[in-house]
Amino acid sequence: MEGRFIVMEGPDGSGKSTQIELLREYLTEQGYDSIITREPGGTVIGEAIRDVILDPEYKSMSDITEMLLYAASRAQLMSEVVGPALEEGKIVISDRFVDSSIVYQGIARGIGIDTVAKINEPGIGIYKPDCIFFIDISEEEGLRRKKEQKKLDRMEQESIDFHHMVSEGYRKVLSDRDEVVYIDGLDEVDNIQKKIRDSLKNRGLL
Ligand code: TYD
Repeated sequence: MEGRFIVMEGPDGSGKSTQIELLREYLTEQGYDSIITREPGGTVIGEAIRDVILDPEYKSMSDITEMLLYAASRAQLMSEVVGPALEEGKIVISDRFVDSSIVYQGIARGIGIDTVAKINEPGIGIYKPDCIFFIDISEEEGLRRKKEQKKLDRMEQESIDFHHMVSEGYRKVLSDRDEVVYIDGLDEVDNIQKKIRDSLKNRGLL
């Protein structure tokens, strides 16, 4: 079997991690060889970059530095983990991918979609997601859930206006694309998981 590249996207607090864990359990039960990766991070170098990006102490980080660090973490992940796993025929489930940068840095930070896409191109190379699940949730609900779980990181501490631009940005960037499956993040966890599994089967990816 050839590899499959599945991506979960959505604002902070949309429930991506829960859904990824449930999908992974199912894939393992069904005998598929799968791995989970996360962005930023997913490699030793990427996790070190993640610590820098998300540290609430680094309030002076420029928007361009932030964009380049996300792109650097992604480039390392693609060359060290995602590319090789796909070549070996594995299913890769990634917690976020380049559309996060397009939305957070390109739109919400105002750097521009084209610039962010270009900067990320060399690190991504030939690989494209087979399916992107967009878990949609309002910024208020997403941040409410995050605040209950843990101390907020540098990105989560951004203003509600920033997070509003993220939510709107996702709706713009991920609409009308064949590989994107829209999911209402307010739906029950089990219903969402069922929709994810059904979509993968219907698309011939499982
Ligand atoms: P994530 O790991 O999903 O956060 P958490 O583990 O707290 O749920 O993502 C970390 C933050 O980085 C999140 O606020 C989104 C942001 N982000 C970007 O701004 N650009 C990117 O390219 C990526 C991958 C994430």
